[in-house]
Amino acid sequence: MLIEKIEALKAQLNDLHASNEEMLEELRIKYLSKKGEITALFNDFRTVAPEQKRELGQRLNELKTLATEKISALRETFKAAAKEKNKIDITRPSLPGYLGTRHPISVVRKQIIDIFSRLGFVLADGPEVEDDWHVFSALNFAADHPARDMQDTFFIEKNDEDVTRNIVLRSHTSSVQVRTMDHQQPPIRIICPGRVYRNEAITARAHCFFHQIEGLYIDKNVTFADLRQVLLYFAQQLFGPDTKIRLRPSYFPFTEPSAEMDVSCMLCGGKGCSFCKNTGWVEILGCGMVDPAVLEASGIDSSVYTGYAFGLGVERITNLKYMVKDLRMFSENDVRFLDEFTAAH
Ligand code: DAH
Repeated sequence: MLIEKIEALKAQLNDLHASNEEMLEELRIKYLSKKGEITALFNDFRTVAPEQKRELGQRLNELKTLATEKISALRETFKAAAKEKNKIDITRPSLPGYLGTRHPISVVRKQIIDIFSRLGFVLADGPEVEDDWHVFSALNFAADHPARDMQDTFFIEKNDEDVTRNIVLRSHTSSVQVRTMDHQQPPIRIICPGRVYRNEAITARAHCFFHQIEGLYIDKNVTFADLRQVLLYFAQQLFGPDTKIRLRPSYFPFTEPSAEMDVSCMLCGGKGCSFCKNTGWVEILGCGMVDPAVLEASGIDSSVYTGYAFGLGVERITNLKYMVKDLRMFSENDVRFLDEFTAAH
């Protein structure tokens, strides 16, 4: 009987549930589509006796309205929920913002600059693409010195007949000594931090670029004792007050006498351990008294003035301070590595 079918469907519709929009669409098809159950009842309606038509027709229409309303009400609740989901809650506390860190090389460079600044050294700068004069010739390198060779130096322009016309990537910051003496008479007291380049295979212990800090002090009566005292102060400021230094004779074309400086091992305090290969000492820099020929090449009277110079590798010092095993870490920019220096500012 049609009336019973209408009542049964009405009961179903009054208890209509859908947990998502797909389910709701299925229900719409089930009841209201061309082949839907309510549509089927309208077909049955044609066979209803004329005296019942009025009442049943009304009921059928009510049923259809009920279905349409129920389904569109459910659709509204899904829409509202989706809207709520996309809403930005401006009262929510923000996540702590990610703070970057200084690069370890920058941290150590700054520490070193601070120490020498306290002693009156001022910053000086020079270009990374340099001519032969400033990198080699003015610093007393002989024309056949091995450092000019392809193996060590990157050439921008190479002149096989006349090496003094070469243009190179500077292989040390000592070139800034010459740049400064080009335009300044003593007293000169400078430090020059900067990047340098060497034609080396990249390994854990060598890289084709790294950072140096150069120091130069020229005045009347500057002695080796002054150099030693400044370097002792530097080492104790950087590595701690108990640090000892030792100077070993060495050779650089631009200093005479020349020395290499060791500091007492920061791990064992000088007793000897695997880090310092049981010597108690680790090497940190090269230094010496500026060769008179270097002063003269830059127009400084070597009978009036003397000076000292030193040069150190920032990566080397950073390795000693923070025990970084692999030089490549410094240029890979892995944030997991860099994040370890958050506290080192
Ligand atoms: N320029 C040298 C190098 O790169 C380091 C150096 C040694 C610099 C002695 C100096 C110095 O100023 O006096 O190996």
